[in-house]
Amino acid sequence: MKFKFLLPILLLTTQASAYWRGFSVKSYLADGSTCKSPSDWASVFAQLKKLPNKINAVRLYSSYTCNTLANAIPAAIASDTFLLVGILSASSTYDNEKGALLQAIKAHGWDWLLAVSVGSEDLYRGTISAASLAHQIYDVRGMLSELPGWNGTLKIGHVDTNNAWSNTSNHDVIRACDFVGTDVYPYFQTLQNNSISNAGVLFEDGVKQVRAAVSKAGSSASVWVTETGWPVNGATKNLAVSGTDEARSYWEQVACTAFYAMNTFWFTLQDFNAVPSFAVLGADGSQLYSQSC
Ligand SMILES: *[C@@H]1O[C@H](CO)[C@@H](O)[C@H](O)[C@H]1NC(C)=O
Ligand SMILES: *[C@@H]1O[C@H](CO)[C@@H](O)[C@H](O)[C@H]1NC(C)=O
Ligand SMILES: *[C@@H]1O[C@H](CO)[C@@H](O)[C@H](O)[C@H]1NC(C)=O
Repeated sequence: MKFKFLLPILLLTTQASAYWRGFSVKSYLADGSTCKSPSDWASVFAQLKKLPNKINAVRLYSSYTCNTLANAIPAAIASDTFLLVGILSASSTYDNEKGALLQAIKAHGWDWLLAVSVGSEDLYRGTISAASLAHQIYDVRGMLSELPGWNGTLKIGHVDTNNAWSNTSNHDVIRACDFVGTDVYPYFQTLQNNSISNAGVLFEDGVKQVRAAVSKAGSSASVWVTETGWPVNGATKNLAVSGTDEARSYWEQVACTAFYAMNTFWFTLQDFNAVPSFAVLGADGSQLYSQSC
């Protein structure tokens, strides 16, 4: 309830147009290693359209790996769903990832692409330096800006954790970004009061912290929530208890406001046998809890 009164702050500090309401969806099936096929992607988009939230976007983690873009784009276009594309930053795949995005634009034009994230949580994991990642973001923007139909409005950014964004050593990455994606998980914030009754407040605080970091870096990039959710199973973490009632409460506190106040990508649609599982649908496609608002 308390969270509802904080909403005007979000509304005042984000763009006033319609927002992307999406899910972050992995490229793999339940076993964690088989890549989703075009028909698997078609069923993902069909399931998303059945949710009561007018989902209009999906965030992908890779482009070349798993043939993700080539496999997902036809179903995305057919269901009028726009894609936040991921480019893996690892040097072993980076050039191929860029190539897959280039191919996708040559094959399908621009009218399915909402933004590009170069990398995901790489600063948090320490798998690339801030300087190299910033360089990759400029590099991808440079590649796209040379293509026919480029008009400068497409946003290129990066997704990471609040702690990574708050670290001033990473602020060159913020300055390279048109948008800053943050992954917010009160369930894992074990040093704070992360009971479900306080989870909406922790979410709101997390977004504010990243906005403060962006401003401190001298950037006007918009902050997007690129992952958030609450698990339906798994261990108790400090005061955070998993379960479908708690996940439903988190949906009410967070999805039902954030989806209408800023670009937001939920984690996740299905993750089958994962523990903790952040899924909203079970393996048979049924809703594990209500997504109505
Ligand atoms: C720029 O291109 C995108 C994608 O084709 C399109 O949706 C958008 O309306 C264009 N913006 C302008 C200002 O032309
Ligand atoms: C900030 O990032 C730098 C560079 O990656 C790292 O050495 C440092 O430990 C980080 N600081 C904190 C507080 O995490
Ligand atoms: C955690 O926050 C909730 C909601 O504000 C509150 O009801 C609860 O008493 C707090 N718990 C602790 C241990 O501070």
